[in-house]
Amino acid sequence: MIKNLFIKKTLAQLDEEASSNKHGLKRHLGLTNLTLLGIGSVIGAGIFVLTGTAAQMHAGPAIVLSFMLSAFGCLLAGLCYAEFASMIPLSGSAYTYGYATMGELIAWIIGWDLILEYLFSTATVAVGWSGYVLSFLADYGIYLPASLAQCPFDFDQHGWHLTGAVINFPAVFIVVTLTALLVVGIKETVKFNNISVVIKIVVVLLFIGFGISHIHPQNWVPFIPQNTGHWGQYGWSGILAGSGVIFFAYIGFDAISTTSQEAINPKRDLPLSILISLLVCTILYVGVSFVLTGIVNYKELNVAAPIALAIDRSGGGLKWLSPAIKVGTIAGLSSVILVTLLGQTRIFFAMAHDGLLWKCFAKTHSKFKTPHYSTIITGFFTALMAGLFPIGLLGELVSIGTLLAFMIVCIGILIMRKTEPDAPRAFKTPCVPFVPALGAFVCLIQMLALPGDTWLRLGIWMAIGFVVYFSYGRKHSVARKLRKGEDI
Ligand code: ALA
Repeated sequence: MIKNLFIKKTLAQLDEEASSNKHGLKRHLGLTNLTLLGIGSVIGAGIFVLTGTAAQMHAGPAIVLSFMLSAFGCLLAGLCYAEFASMIPLSGSAYTYGYATMGELIAWIIGWDLILEYLFSTATVAVGWSGYVLSFLADYGIYLPASLAQCPFDFDQHGWHLTGAVINFPAVFIVVTLTALLVVGIKETVKFNNISVVIKIVVVLLFIGFGISHIHPQNWVPFIPQNTGHWGQYGWSGILAGSGVIFFAYIGFDAISTTSQEAINPKRDLPLSILISLLVCTILYVGVSFVLTGIVNYKELNVAAPIALAIDRSGGGLKWLSPAIKVGTIAGLSSVILVTLLGQTRIFFAMAHDGLLWKCFAKTHSKFKTPHYSTIITGFFTALMAGLFPIGLLGELVSIGTLLAFMIVCIGILIMRKTEPDAPRAFKTPCVPFVPALGAFVCLIQMLALPGDTWLRLGIWMAIGFVVYFSYGRKHSVARKLRKGEDI
């Protein structure tokens, strides 16, 4: 019975599933679109909002080093994702990789964990989107009634309280709109994403290119401010703590691996697009944080819109960039919401296909060829969370969920190299076992550094997941039925 909990899917089974074309999704995505999906889901609230806070509270100008360090951790996991993506061309990302290496129960844990990552990430960014849109509208004298511009529940050191508002309407609006786009088709989704990504990259490059001439090099002195005597407040520990905070900015490249069944040549293009998008984002992040801390002294950077502050401090020289930055940020956050919603629906799709979630999640629309039920259900719950809850509470859970998935993927590569040493791999993680082992270790350390409350919430989420698995998934698992010779 215990053994059945860890039933695995073989590589041959996974290949069969991928090529059977029974899944109903359409293969539309080439290397460029996949890479733009990756960049689309990575560059968002992290760089536009968190950079200032992390610099002011933890690293000072050395936030540049925090970005490099966080990128290094993500690269280790990214290399492992790339190997799996080149072997297993199925949607489901880490969930599917877990099924092939560690068996059903672990796969379920990752799948349930990915739901946490994607659902909360989308809701967090939608709340950030709402903030930027409200401020953009206010610049033109347009104001939404306060009751529609805020979430009704808030949480602080005194616990939960009501804010008096009814709903965060803009956050709900963007989630519902993008959900509709996702239902209509992957082609339309990709078009919207490509436009948003181009806008945000242009805006980031404009900021870096024109911002350079407004830098005051004395703002970088000292580059690594002296530690205050407390762990994480400047010095080398501050760089580490800063890298934990801005890890959020890198989340999303893994979403590419959820679109495997819509990729034209997944075994070649998925690994490449994962690594290219990670590289592009790292270069842009390092550039932005360098210019930002050069224009504004890090001590003043703990604001919600640090880039807007840098523009104000440029002495009018960058004033013309102000509306463009807001538009770029809004476009950037839109694509993060879009691609993260997309990833979430494909994970539901994969889990339902395996019988671990209700069949309706695996249905595709006869005309649009998209998993419309899972998209609408995902959109509904995301809109609900984005409309009702505050940003801080949502954001914390995203990092722990992502780190857990990254860690399991790294461990999965170690297992796969032992169990399937000769299976064809279009991409191989270099320096195994060093890279995956270090990747898993770095993720674990970053998880341990997160607050106890976050661990508690993760535990509650997982407990709910076990109830769903043992009451539904275990009984309907396709892999178990096949083993027992039952009809599926
Ligand atoms: N990486 C995404 C962002 O920064 C989640 O918004």
